[in-house]
Amino acid sequence: MKLWLGLILCTGYLLISTAKAEQWHIASPNGEINVQLELTTDALQYQVKFQQQPVIKASKLGLAFKNQAKLQSNLQVTKVAERQQDQNWQPLWGQRATIRDNFREITLTLRETGDKARQLQLVFRVYDDGVAFRYKVPAQAELQQVVISDELTEFNFAQNYAAWWQQAYQPQSYEYQYLNSALSSVNVAHTPLTLTDDGIAIAIHEAALVDYAAMTLRHQGENLIQFTADLVPWSNGDKVRTQTPFQSPWRTIQIAKNAVALLNSDLILNLNEPANAKIDTSYIKPGKYMGIWWEMHIGLKDWSPGPKQGATTARAKQYIDFASQHDIDGVLIEGWNQGWEGDWWQRPPTFSFTKPVKGLDMAEVTQYAKSKGVQIIGHHETAAGVAYYEAQMTAGMAYYQKLGIHSVKMGYVGPLLDQKEWHDGQFMVNHFQKVVDTAAAHGLMVNAHETVKDTGLSRTNPNLMTRESVRGMEYNGGSPDTGNSPNHTVIIPFTRGLAGPTDFTPGIFNFNYQKYRPNNRVPSTLANQLSLYVTLYSPLQMVADLPEHYQDSKGKMHPAFAFIDAVPTDWQQSIALQGEIGEFLVVARQDKHSERWFVGASNNQTARKIALPLNFLKANTDYQLTLYADAADADWRKNPSAYQIFSQVVTADSVIPLTLASGGGAALELIPFNVKN
Ligand code: NOJ
Ligand code: CA
Repeated sequence: MKLWLGLILCTGYLLISTAKAEQWHIASPNGEINVQLELTTDALQYQVKFQQQPVIKASKLGLAFKNQAKLQSNLQVTKVAERQQDQNWQPLWGQRATIRDNFREITLTLRETGDKARQLQLVFRVYDDGVAFRYKVPAQAELQQVVISDELTEFNFAQNYAAWWQQAYQPQSYEYQYLNSALSSVNVAHTPLTLTDDGIAIAIHEAALVDYAAMTLRHQGENLIQFTADLVPWSNGDKVRTQTPFQSPWRTIQIAKNAVALLNSDLILNLNEPANAKIDTSYIKPGKYMGIWWEMHIGLKDWSPGPKQGATTARAKQYIDFASQHDIDGVLIEGWNQGWEGDWWQRPPTFSFTKPVKGLDMAEVTQYAKSKGVQIIGHHETAAGVAYYEAQMTAGMAYYQKLGIHSVKMGYVGPLLDQKEWHDGQFMVNHFQKVVDTAAAHGLMVNAHETVKDTGLSRTNPNLMTRESVRGMEYNGGSPDTGNSPNHTVIIPFTRGLAGPTDFTPGIFNFNYQKYRPNNRVPSTLANQLSLYVTLYSPLQMVADLPEHYQDSKGKMHPAFAFIDAVPTDWQQSIALQGEIGEFLVVARQDKHSERWFVGASNNQTARKIALPLNFLKANTDYQLTLYADAADADWRKNPSAYQIFSQVVTADSVIPLTLASGGGAALELIPFNVKN
């Protein structure tokens, strides 16, 4: 009521426009989320409520084009279509074997009232776990080849929520630690942007980012909690270069009663198109991998050829032997190719994608791997040279295909692509789609580093397994920077993790590499490293440390490695159980191919005790629990390696007390052995 009065008092024009306003309402299947759409002469506006409380207040929608008037005001609705869907679908791999896609949808078809009568559609979907909307611009005479100069979507937040965020437009793109501040202090943020308050958690992101620029959120106007979609521009300022018909990615507002519940949402995947049922997926397999990798990051070895060269035939065979003994599916060999001499990250790329470096016999290594049942993982570092890479990409991928390789990791180290484009503009979005498609054509799974953020496209492109787009373990190794803080790994599942799988690369067992990197530490205990295999989701999960750090010189295994041996990377179901952003997180997951459950509890720097009810287990069943826990004196700073292992029979009625050290954690394996009816 207040709002109406305000408008009436304001100007006669607004009085007329509000008098003419048309409204539409749409609610989530469970009725808890409500969206109101309202058309005034000014614009189409949307509002969102959760449990009757406003989340997004009236916010305008629209698009601005280069050399054309804005498409925002003087619109009339020519058609309204509503529909509802409730279906289950099965991803090829993922956190859940079955995903429920249950929403209500409204599509408004709009036309300008003036001479041009340009057309636009707005589609809104409301799920129990959030709201999504997208623009669709049909083919039309007045809009053909267009440049979007701005997306006029507003997010006019109802409260000054606590924000967990990362600043956009920085040279290392997403490789920063998260900031925690009032929403009013955010200037321009990447998505997912996660917001909390008592009784609510919200994440703003996008789904199905195809042939468009990534969306960031920019602080607007005098109202301190009003934001607009800020599309990452091309170097000349264009935001999106396109042609009608086109559609924007979905703008997503995930809403839950607390932050942990956000982690159980499948909204982003649900909004992506299903994969074409006819494509070959036989080569796509989630799994664990090792690599000639951490030894470079801690400065023990080098990517460059010469005395410290990491990639050698002999070293690759050591990794293959270890992987084969531990059912680790793949071995990555960084520095395998020619062109890594000197400061490769500071100059335009010189890499070959088809020629191995001296000292590394690729044919011998791949043959040896094959004989041991291990896959070699290819590596394409591009040093952010996209044109350079595209010229060799097909040949590079064909080379791998010929060698029987089924997986490639690529990277784009450098502040700008081709020295001028952002890592999350339309330039990268389109390049990366080309990469994923070319990889699929060559039977290659993709793990991309320094690429654009995830928006759920793995549903459509199931060979797109995982990506970095986060400040990963590499920073603890010391290249290129100082390490992460202990709470980083209990922030990223609630922020970056909402976008999709994260190649963080856990599993460091040796904390004592200060000989090479005096200023770096892995800010966690050993039990925390184990917990990350469950709390940080990725279908390709690295076993990041050196083989000799998992076993002694006599070949005796580190007892805690048994957890890494056992933990799978593909899941029947996943449940985020408890936690708070930046504090701790407990996640339980059931193996896709057995009745075994795994639980990870990851902690920040504050030691704490928690109680873990096992009520997610099957009733009337005994489970053998193996608990990998921090020792009583474990502490990430003083005693990171101290752990203990317990065994116990438990049931769904058991409650396990967990003591998590500073920077600590716990990892649980639960194997059913006695089903009582
Ligand atoms: C950065 C990547 O994140 C890292 O994993 C890789 O080892 C280096 N680039 C070299 O390609
Ligand atoms: Ca990186």
